[in-house]
Amino acid sequence: MASKGANAWAAMPLSGLGSILLMATLITLGIDIYYQSRSANCQCENQSSAVLLGTNIQSLQDLPGAASGRKFTGYGCAAHVYVQFGAYRGGNRTFAILGLASKPLHSYGRPNFACFWKSAKPTVNSSGLHEGFAKWYLTDWGYGRVYTVVSINCTFDTEMGTDSDGGELILDAFTGDMFGRKERIVALTEKPGDYDASVFDPPYPYDYLYCGSPLYGDLNPQMMKEWLIHHTNLFGPRSHFVFQDAGGIHSGVWKVLEPWIRMGRVTVQNIKQQSQYDSYYFNQFLVLDDCLHRTRFMANWTFFFDVDEYIYVQPPSTLRDILDQYSDSAAHVAFRQFRLSDKLCTSKENSSAAESSKWLMEKLTYHYANSQNHDVKVVLNPRRVYATGVHGAEQSDGSRETFPISLARYYHYHNTITRKGELCQEFLDPNQSANFSVGNDLYTYDGSMIPFAEKSKQLELQLFGAASN
Ligand SMILES: *[C@@H]1O[C@H](CO)[C@@H](O)[C@H](O)[C@H]1NC(C)=O
Ligand SMILES: *[C@@H]1O[C@H](CO)[C@@H](O)[C@H](O)[C@H]1NC(C)=O
Ligand SMILES: *[C@@H]1O[C@H](CO)[C@@H](O)[C@H](O)[C@H]1NC(C)=O
Ligand SMILES: *[C@@H]1O[C@H](CO)[C@@H](O)[C@H](O)[C@H]1NC(C)=O
Ligand SMILES: *[C@@H]1O[C@H](CO)[C@@H](O)[C@H](O)[C@H]1NC(C)=O
Ligand SMILES: *[C@@H]1O[C@H](CO)[C@@H](O)[C@H](O)[C@H]1NC(C)=O
Ligand SMILES: *[C@@H]1O[C@H](CO)[C@@H](O)[C@H](O)[C@H]1NC(C)=O
Ligand SMILES: *[C@@H]1O[C@H](CO)[C@@H](O)[C@H](O)[C@H]1NC(C)=O
Repeated sequence: MASKGANAWAAMPLSGLGSILLMATLITLGIDIYYQSRSANCQCENQSSAVLLGTNIQSLQDLPGAASGRKFTGYGCAAHVYVQFGAYRGGNRTFAILGLASKPLHSYGRPNFACFWKSAKPTVNSSGLHEGFAKWYLTDWGYGRVYTVVSINCTFDTEMGTDSDGGELILDAFTGDMFGRKERIVALTEKPGDYDASVFDPPYPYDYLYCGSPLYGDLNPQMMKEWLIHHTNLFGPRSHFVFQDAGGIHSGVWKVLEPWIRMGRVTVQNIKQQSQYDSYYFNQFLVLDDCLHRTRFMANWTFFFDVDEYIYVQPPSTLRDILDQYSDSAAHVAFRQFRLSDKLCTSKENSSAAESSKWLMEKLTYHYANSQNHDVKVVLNPRRVYATGVHGAEQSDGSRETFPISLARYYHYHNTITRKGELCQEFLDPNQSANFSVGNDLYTYDGSMIPFAEKSKQLELQLFGAASN
């Protein structure tokens, strides 16, 4: 199991102290890079010098009205041609490179990319440089701000680097201007022996993998705990959760996550440096697409949803039952949303202790019946998806499906993840189960999640001995 994941993610198969240490290293590294890149010079040289001179007609040169060339003097750069975040092998002749690029450059210019594989051992007849076919996807197009996400697919017509000599994946990022300026980037380096063909074939280390969106803000640790336990219950023991820390994993949340990290169930990535690169919403599209490719061969299925969203599968069906029918041809299977009121609860228990020991799933039991929100969240077959967005695959080879809402859906507890104190603000009669209105909204009682709170509490006992709440 450990060696299978090594290609994409050395951190994940480690357990116990190993992953803690690695995590600490990652954090330290994150900080180093941060300061380095702040002080590093941004080179945009030769832009103006090439057009500066020789523009005036010679015979007019001496006339006072024929001004000499004016100079534009640039200082620093506002946005880079490419900011690399990740690069991964996707098979024996295909790679993904994930990063950001200046949005105005992509809006108004004609930037382009080329990619190469450079063998570590050039042969007599060849320099060892092979050109691949680069395709790029602007996955957050329209949402990006200073930066836009550029997800690059680099595919060769024959196998590259499979000879165990090692090599480099090289990306040329062209600004596409008249000067042919380009940045040459070594996107990925494989040392001799790194290539391992077996990682691409099933069985994969996990059944289910979760790719989280950037976590920020003052997250409520108890909510994180409840979410993690519910989804561990649902996903089973062969599952793994990847969280992206954009500042939300403060000490209280670390305390919740630490035992899970020790058990090898959770990986946390420090992505705080993303704040320097203003694209969209804490670089959500970038980290999701990166996680897709990073974990492409680690699990049968990869889930993309948020920590205030709870997947529901109608018993007695299990996740495996409902996914099995899609395993041959689907790239993307969507869960439709049930959005819950963040304040309506069912009639009060007779003690406040009983009330406060309830979990989110048991407390908030009214969903908006007139909600026009048709949001979906998805589970992807990562091998069939080449680029993903927040609500589903953007480039894929496979069908797009949606679970029947009675069979599987997700409960969205909007506006709860950073809340402190009592959630319930109004208690209603659970017998009033048909549609009824409160204010302008129409609600329906829905206790489907209540039994899962009980199961979660049992799992917590099993895993940690004592329920903490
Ligand atoms: C700037 O342009 C000159 C002439 O085209 C070239 O010789 C020089 O290497 C360029 N400088 C950089 C840093 O690319
Ligand atoms: C290379 O990968 C493809 C699948 O992408 C597979 O069909 C083929 O057998 C692989 N080649 C070797 C030599 O393993
Ligand atoms: C190198 O090229 C020569 C002449 O084209 C050819 O005979 C030889 O087989 C090639 N060697 C390799 C290792 O491809
Ligand atoms: C995952 O895939 C493997 C191999 O294809 C299969 O044996 C296993 O049953 C799958 N697991 C789930 C939960 O679907
Ligand atoms: C509520 O009251 C009933 C009867 O007074 C009692 O049996 C029950 O234990 C109480 N429930 C809680 C949660 O305190
Ligand atoms: C790149 O795209 C091709 C299809 O054009 C696909 O077969 C390949 O898996 C993709 N590679 C990655 C790493 O997504
Ligand atoms: C709900 O209905 C049941 C049966 O009709 C009744 O016993 C119970 O008291 C009702 N609950 C409330 C809160 O009114
Ligand atoms: C509740 O309202 C929704 C939306 O108006 C409607 O589709 C549904 O049939 C209603 N359910 C009941 C039990 O009236």
